[in-house]
Amino acid sequence: MSSTMKVVNTKSELIELLEEAKKTGKTVGFVPTMGALHEGHISLLTECKRHCDVSVLSIFVNPTQFNDPADLERYPRTPEKDFSLLEDNGCNIVFYPSVEEIYPEQDTRKFDFGYIESIMEGAKRPGHFNGVAQVVSKLFYIVKPDKAFFGMKDFQQIAVIKKMVEILKMPIEIVECPIIREKSGLALSSRNKLLSDEHKKNAPHIHSILKKATNLATEIPTSELKEFIKKEIDKNSYLETEYVEIVDAETLRVITEPYPETKTVVCVAVYAGKIRLIDNIAINPSNAQH
Ligand code: PAF
Repeated sequence: MSSTMKVVNTKSELIELLEEAKKTGKTVGFVPTMGALHEGHISLLTECKRHCDVSVLSIFVNPTQFNDPADLERYPRTPEKDFSLLEDNGCNIVFYPSVEEIYPEQDTRKFDFGYIESIMEGAKRPGHFNGVAQVVSKLFYIVKPDKAFFGMKDFQQIAVIKKMVEILKMPIEIVECPIIREKSGLALSSRNKLLSDEHKKNAPHIHSILKKATNLATEIPTSELKEFIKKEIDKNSYLETEYVEIVDAETLRVITEPYPETKTVVCVAVYAGKIRLIDNIAINPSNAQH
């Protein structure tokens, strides 16, 4: 692949470019994004480049995964800035399609993810994961990557995508990449750009409470831990917890005490004003009260 980055807008152009690369035995890595890129996305691209010969990153704000039209409307869009950041970081191909290119007709597919979409984001944002699966499957059919890279901030999304790949029998490895945080502890997210200065200043409180909670897991049962997290986050008048859940890291089964021997993850969704932030942290079994 030449070192100059290519920005392509159509499926046919992308397929042609990738066919050339695949013919010569090159492996393809893929990072799907909705743009407004930050260091978290760049860390996915870096991993992608480490694993694969050709890196493809898509920028597409997918309308079918927004269950709130206002959220779709205000989602940040910074394509020119994104392209230059990607060029500086050695991305090979950027796929930047229009809505018509991805959805020439309405996508009426309904995925059945069963239990994993019945909790947390699935419960609070009806239709969200169906929309994610629609777009990611379409992108996977176009790119046909060997590996695709996703950030663990969207912990439940990774489980959904793994399940989707299994349902559709796609030979694609899903690579999970760690959450990237600001120095303050705030998990990087494109939505952080929408926070007011005051909300931005207070949002790191979410991670500091989650960190405290991992230490407390040795001392208090799950129900109390959840209550503690909610109470402590909500003490900050700029934040309001929507949910706190403790789930098994593999199955996403909701944990009611006692803590299992397997790894668990604490997941939260918190409103900072109108902006909804999600975050999570792992509790290692050795840290938990049994
Ligand atoms: O995580 C995201 O940014 C989106 O949900 C994704 C995977 C790019 C699908 O639109």
